[in-house]
Amino acid sequence: MVRDIIIWPDPLLKQKSVPVDKVDDGIRRLLDDMSETMYAADGVGLAAPQVGVLKRCIVIDTSPRQEGQKLLHFVNPVIVRAEGETTYTEGCLSIPGEAEDVDRFATVRVRALDRSGKEFEIEADELLAIAVQHETDHLQGTVFVDHLSSLKRELIRRRMKKLKAEHASETPGEVKKAPQHRSAL
Ligand code: NI
Repeated sequence: MVRDIIIWPDPLLKQKSVPVDKVDDGIRRLLDDMSETMYAADGVGLAAPQVGVLKRCIVIDTSPRQEGQKLLHFVNPVIVRAEGETTYTEGCLSIPGEAEDVDRFATVRVRALDRSGKEFEIEADELLAIAVQHETDHLQGTVFVDHLSSLKRELIRRRMKKLKAEHASETPGEVKKAPQHRSAL
């Protein structure tokens, strides 16, 4: 089921998500809804708080833009190693139509539980590394505009408020159909 994506600024997007105790059918349903929502919005990543659920769950599929990738589910993800530096022009499904350069680590090693509750570790580089950092930020209540200067952030805040006002008569589901950056996360 496609869920509504919360548009920034919103108090929910500033909150910290809590760890998942047990990967059960409810969590698997959440992960499935999240990937459906991500694909429907043409994004490459989504974190549970973006659909209003404050649980440490993320989904990422960079395969349209990165060779050899596929849909990945991460429950309770932890970045255990981060190396190098890179800058990437990021977008966010919660901040439609906006994209800015953000400094990130070039490669990260992430440990998480999969959809069956089994622990796994992967080494991520390129867009996948960016997506892991962007989505784990969401679980801490941080969005990519928090990495920008306050001037840039306030300009984007103003545009988002205008966008929300314009779409006030519509559902959040319709707002998310605004044009997205090609790597919205
Ligand atoms: Ni995002």
